[in-house]
Amino acid sequence: MAQKYKKKNPAFVFGLIVLLVCFLYTLFANSIPQIEFHPPERVNITPDMSQRDLVRTGKMILNEKGKCLLCHTIGGGGLRAPDLVGIGERAETRKKGYSSEDYLFESLYYPSKYVVEGYVPSMPIVNKPPINLADEEIVAVVSFLQSLDGKVTVKPTTKPNFEKIGKKQEGDGSENR
Ligand code: HEC
Repeated sequence: MAQKYKKKNPAFVFGLIVLLVCFLYTLFANSIPQIEFHPPERVNITPDMSQRDLVRTGKMILNEKGKCLLCHTIGGGGLRAPDLVGIGERAETRKKGYSSEDYLFESLYYPSKYVVEGYVPSMPIVNKPPINLADEEIVAVVSFLQSLDGKVTVKPTTKPNFEKIGKKQEGDGSENR
């Protein structure tokens, strides 16, 4: 009878503890909400699509493929990056001599040329990896940004005025264009 209470092998006890820790860790890991991965949807932007559809497509790109909401909020305060609420209106007055579309295209192709006060220049160039938006997708995103309290002036066929916004700048990646 007494033999039953023999001291347990320390290696066995250690093994049990390791198993228990692994089990608890798995429980904890599974309790973290998983981020779903959606492969980027191919969006069709056609020259004859309406501005309304362009804006809607731009919103979708901003939410998904553009990964903009990893940093930005739309009406949520803007901790990592400026809140985009009202950006359509603000874009008209950000830079002297710039229309709202000039400013927004510049923000996306050459984000470090104008750095919003209070933030560091950490916005990625959106037509380069990892975001890698196509030019027409950027037009759609600009149309959506303009629709946030501003006037939508871009059409599916609009080309950014690179003569104006695309001046070469040290370290902003524009030299690789
Ligand atoms: C890694 C974080 C990050 C991501 C992702 C990001 N941005 Fe930004 N963005 C910033 C930061 C930080 C600033 C402010 C600094 C600056 O002006 O460059 C900024 C600035 C801007 C501005 C100028 C805002 C203003 O008030 O003038 C616009 C417009 C903008 N981003 C749009 C976008 C869009 C659209 C996307 C997605 C295609 C995007 N950003 C993705 C961080 C990010």
